[in-house]
Amino acid sequence: MGRNPIEPHLFIILGGTGDLTQRKLLPALYRLTAQGILNDRSRILGVARDSNLSDQSFRNWAREALATAGVSGKEMTANWCDQCVYYQPIGVGSEGDYRSLLARVQELERKYNIAGNRAFYLALPPDAFPTTIRGLGQVGLNQSSGWTRLVIEKPFGHDLASAQELNRLVHTDFNESQIYRIDHYLGKETVQNLLVFRFANAIFESLWNRDRVESIEITVAEDLGIEKRAHYYEHAGALRDMVQNHLTQLLTLVAMEVPPSFEADAIRTEKIKVLHTVMPIRPEEVVLGQYTRGKIDGQEVPGYREEPGVAPDSNTETSVAFRVEIDNWRWQGVPFYLRTGKRLPRRLTQIAVTFRSPPICLFQSLDGCQIHPNVLTITLQPDEGFDLFFEVKAPVQPVKIKTQRLHFRYTEAFGPLPEAYETLLLDVLTGDQTLFVHADEVEASWRLFAPLLEQKPQVHEYAAGSWGPPEADQITDREGRRWQTL
Ligand code: BG6
Repeated sequence: MGRNPIEPHLFIILGGTGDLTQRKLLPALYRLTAQGILNDRSRILGVARDSNLSDQSFRNWAREALATAGVSGKEMTANWCDQCVYYQPIGVGSEGDYRSLLARVQELERKYNIAGNRAFYLALPPDAFPTTIRGLGQVGLNQSSGWTRLVIEKPFGHDLASAQELNRLVHTDFNESQIYRIDHYLGKETVQNLLVFRFANAIFESLWNRDRVESIEITVAEDLGIEKRAHYYEHAGALRDMVQNHLTQLLTLVAMEVPPSFEADAIRTEKIKVLHTVMPIRPEEVVLGQYTRGKIDGQEVPGYREEPGVAPDSNTETSVAFRVEIDNWRWQGVPFYLRTGKRLPRRLTQIAVTFRSPPICLFQSLDGCQIHPNVLTITLQPDEGFDLFFEVKAPVQPVKIKTQRLHFRYTEAFGPLPEAYETLLLDVLTGDQTLFVHADEVEASWRLFAPLLEQKPQVHEYAAGSWGPPEADQITDREGRRWQTL
């Protein structure tokens, strides 16, 4: 992943006064500048409806945003805001408004001698995507004398048809090579390291197949509820919010074939191939859940239907557990168990690879075979690292076997990890699409879940603070397995 140099550019945030800008984008851009990574002629232009804001009042807002996000160095952030941050109102989004945006972009480019390099970031509600993309295209902001890139936040569509329509619309004005569809999971250091772990360590890659692997489990657990996002979440649910994107991305990275090179296209092609070989998901292998009142860390928390803005009879799922198989040479017959949920006991994203047991058990006790299968767990957050569980003889007679673990923790080796958004913004600015989702990938992933979205299975209850509805155990019990104890 060699980087191109970062040329002076204009970073234009549509949705400039929104939550994402405040929590993620401004802090990430500031940190990149503070580390000396961004060229000091680069500038940020926040764009939003509010016509009462000026450059100066937007800078004041940006300063507060950085302080709220915990970015240290009051004076440095103040100077950065004064020097680098600008504001442009977009009014109702008429053609005239986009012409004014074009004029402002050109003015800043002239002032700072920026050679037409523009990143447009759509930090907007999804219903504003189509008109915004069209608006940019109409006035020619989709191309320039330098590079023009368009960053689109999730959700990319709400089903297959809407994702296809959005792809069609984006492709009217932009080429696929200009489009950066964000799935912030791909920016996480540990998620990227999955590829290095797999393809730089021959010992694991040679075991990474149906001959050696018994099953693979992917868990994305959150202790948080839906926060104040009922309006969005009621329509999304866990299938759209987490499964179609984040969990599917993890599945493709774990299961993909070795790409011919580390180029973006080569990697994305292999990921798409995985999606094309996932067998149709059987409704009886999917268990949806919704949290009811319960306790997390000793604190009482409300049930989903009691959250502000949620319908008292809502049928929206807040957890999903399911099983898939990948019908290719490498994985045929290996079950992949995936689960995610809100208000589970703790935050944990983990991949557990269970290897096959020895064919004959030499170590029997009165209770049967003493050997447990080897398990490799890759913890993506928090406490990022790897654990390999293996069997040893305890120093007692008669022979007693104990499971021990080898472990590696990122922070012990490298200190704090960078924020996902820093990585992703840097990739946008250097033109590296590896960590962004291709149009075909989005569609293939929606296609996979379309039957479940069209005919949603029953939603079971689970108490907040539990690991999801007990019915989910049937998915693994049926095959004589158990979800990993977390
Ligand atoms: C977002 C979802 O994409 O990812 C949220 O919309 C979820 O509902 C979040 O909480 C989880 O991200 P992370 O990085 O905290 O695991």
